[in-house]
Amino acid sequence: MKFYITTPIYYANDIPHIGHSYTTITSDIVARWKRLNNFDVFFLTGTDEHGAKIAATAKEKGKTPLDLCDEMSARFKEVWKLLDISYTEFIRTTEQSHLASVRKIIEILFEKGFIFKKKYEGLYCLECERFYSVKDLDENGCCPFHRTRPTNQSEENYFFKLSSFQNALLERIANPDHKEYVEIQPEERKNEIIGKLKLGLEDISFSRSAVEWGIPLPFDKKQTVYVWADALINYITGTGYAADEEKFQKYWPADIHLMAKDILWFHSVIWPAVLMAAGLPLPKKICSHGFFTLNGRKMSKSAGNVISPKELVDKYGVDAARYLLVTIMPFGPDGDISWQELTLKYNADLANNLGNLISRTIKMAEKYFNFQVPQSVLNLELAEKVAAILKENFAVNMDNMQLHKAVEAVQNAITLINKQIEVDSPWKLVKTDVEKRKLASCICSYLQAIYIITMYLLPFMPALCAKIWRMTGGNGDINETAKKYFADLIIPENGFSTPQAKLNVPEILFPRIL
Ligand code: MSP
Repeated sequence: MKFYITTPIYYANDIPHIGHSYTTITSDIVARWKRLNNFDVFFLTGTDEHGAKIAATAKEKGKTPLDLCDEMSARFKEVWKLLDISYTEFIRTTEQSHLASVRKIIEILFEKGFIFKKKYEGLYCLECERFYSVKDLDENGCCPFHRTRPTNQSEENYFFKLSSFQNALLERIANPDHKEYVEIQPEERKNEIIGKLKLGLEDISFSRSAVEWGIPLPFDKKQTVYVWADALINYITGTGYAADEEKFQKYWPADIHLMAKDILWFHSVIWPAVLMAAGLPLPKKICSHGFFTLNGRKMSKSAGNVISPKELVDKYGVDAARYLLVTIMPFGPDGDISWQELTLKYNADLANNLGNLISRTIKMAEKYFNFQVPQSVLNLELAEKVAAILKENFAVNMDNMQLHKAVEAVQNAITLINKQIEVDSPWKLVKTDVEKRKLASCICSYLQAIYIITMYLLPFMPALCAKIWRMTGGNGDINETAKKYFADLIIPENGFSTPQAKLNVPEILFPRIL
């Protein structure tokens, strides 16, 4: 089965920060989890490179827009590499394949009569790259996201007949039984969208005559395609629309479009309307998360409180940085983070709970069994308990994008193993042969339970879990073993390691941070 997940394509005028990283890491974790569940995953990310905002930034920096985009898209790729993001493709909206895809779909909309010319005057926010009506502005007449005053713009543009899709959208968004149901998560935001849709929809300008940095309209070369129309179409370009029909048939529609709340309207209203107008299938799920604030303040360059992904990685390491970012706040609502809170969580979950479990288990194997998986009758009781906790609480939370809850279940399982070690006090079982046999059996049972939690944490901390697997003597490649295990959730009769398999000297996986 296929699974297609997307991140937003990020504006190429900004440097990648932890807001972008949060969305991309979340998508990566879901993509990795689906791969482990034997899905044929297509994971798309990229950069949004056209429009007035990019052109203005390039001008400020004395560069051509394309030079700026080349530089910035390379920076995004670098950061995704640093964060171990396993995207299938990275799309840039300045690529030829995308230009062809935009031209094709815009032409179809034009031929079907969904695009028409009209004079328009409105309030435009350059940061959002969109018009606002007065009722959508805040009490000071400013953009609700950027708190800047939109400028008055008047143009003759080509409009998309968004208003024709009000009912069709309502049916598909509000009715789970509809055969083209588009699920919006979380529920509160879905209800907000439905509420707004019920008030009616206005047609939307889909071209600009004053913006040169864009894709010329196929039927009027003096105008360029509105950057948001251009950007949304990336999701079909990426899977081969207008270039590779077989790929397109295989992967479209998207199973999940992921983003923050700021751009949910574009994805859940404008995008499905465009697809309906073009006669294409609709995305299955649109998930939006909240915004990060840092120590109670919005992250911004001017406030000087932006955390860069690199700072996070320098402090905690890549795997822990990924883990912390997606578990520090629930997926959905806004959340405030602070260095202090991140460090507290790092020490509690990783240095103490997980790190301690791994190092104490290996140390016992070192001391009593010369770094080997002891030979013993395999007791899988503890592993079965751990497996049961995770079977009940992990997949369901991953499917609902509640990644922090899925991880909470793993942490509970780790606590359970640590408690069992305290109860057994294996270090006391060293006198008689009977005790020594019990000791061997205890260590084996901890190792089997560790293998299970390691497989579940793999999408979150891929390199680190592969390392734990090797350090603790797990059989073969962790990815392959995990794929087999997740297919039926049956623990193999002989567990996940062979007796006398070599364990490695325990490295300090999570040095304590003050
Ligand atoms: N280019 C458009 C998206 C087009 S998609 C067809 C855009 N780009 S953006 O660079 O502004 O990225 C917005 C997205 O970045 C948000 O939806 C979210 O995924 C992520 N975030 C940016 N800042 C964020 C926070 N402070 N907190 C959480 N996520 C944030 O909009």
